[in-house]
Amino acid sequence: MIQTEDMEFAPRVISPEVSEEDCEIEVSLRPQTLHEYIGQEKVKENLAIYIEAAKRRGEPLDHVLLYGPPGLGKTTLSGIIAHELGVNLRITTGPAIEKPGDLVSLLTSLSDNDVLFIDEIHRLSRAVEEILYPAMEDRVIDIIIGKGPSARSIRMDLKPFTLIGATTRAGQLSAPLRDRFGVIQRLELYSPEQLTDIVRRSSMILGIPCTRDGASEIAGRSRGTPRIANRLLKRVRDFADVMGNGEITKEIANIALSRQEIDELGLDSLDRRMLDMIIKGYGGGPVGLETLASAIGEESVTLEDVCEPFLMQLGFLGRTPRGRCATKLAYEHLGYKFTDTPDSTADDGQLTL
Ligand code: ADE
Repeated sequence: MIQTEDMEFAPRVISPEVSEEDCEIEVSLRPQTLHEYIGQEKVKENLAIYIEAAKRRGEPLDHVLLYGPPGLGKTTLSGIIAHELGVNLRITTGPAIEKPGDLVSLLTSLSDNDVLFIDEIHRLSRAVEEILYPAMEDRVIDIIIGKGPSARSIRMDLKPFTLIGATTRAGQLSAPLRDRFGVIQRLELYSPEQLTDIVRRSSMILGIPCTRDGASEIAGRSRGTPRIANRLLKRVRDFADVMGNGEITKEIANIALSRQEIDELGLDSLDRRMLDMIIKGYGGGPVGLETLASAIGEESVTLEDVCEPFLMQLGFLGRTPRGRCATKLAYEHLGYKFTDTPDSTADDGQLTL
């Protein structure tokens, strides 16, 4: 049983944030087992051992923290973990748990060894977090009854459970919360080959004819993120239906993706605006994130969580203590002549500070 309490909407075609449409496709495409799940090999190998060990001992799995950029499958993995353990999954998000009482009612409604998944766990309030500490460590919660001098605290036992926390910003988690997770796994961006396999799997499930080259074209422009790959697959299908015979080929994918202003490396207009501003507005950098964000009228968290991991993986962006720098590769990709500055980058994209 899966219960979802809160989902967000975001309009950008290659935003890794989850939209309403994504929700529907993601649920239908979600792999159910570790075997079906493509990529994240190390995470899968480790989880397989921990799950098997917990099952053999008849104990709940230790609490798990999954972190990494958005759209990489943290919710999907938590569903798989619950499925493999043979228990229920409850899904919620940090901001949806407004009061300590909200968390208390979630925790007390769990059955033995159930999984509670809290997305964006870094956004829990301090008061809610404090309920979690004894719950995670000793499976108890302390409830305050009454007010003022007559207030008293009663301790309630909880059923054994596993908390899976997910965050794009592990650094923002408080140390006491982070320390209570026995398993901490980082999800990495997917390779183009893994994304090709994901697009092929999704197109088969959705009944969309798609050549290997077509899938690979979509994969190569999905910035390492399955959520984006699956969203692009649906958009490209529209072009294949209207402009072709319904089959997704390399040519159709190319036309469709160019129309969405996604270039051959998967950069969208926001990525390009960001690099463009660093290069043209700030001489290639360094420029502080907040300055850059206000210069292009975008939120700094979007630049940091969405654009930067991908631009850094491409070797287009450097982060220095004094701010962000565009690399020679970024200049070349955007068609600018590279001018070396003391704080800019060397040929290999490494920062020369
Ligand atoms: N759909 C989305 N992410 C996936 C993954 N990692 N493996 C298989 N299908 C997926």
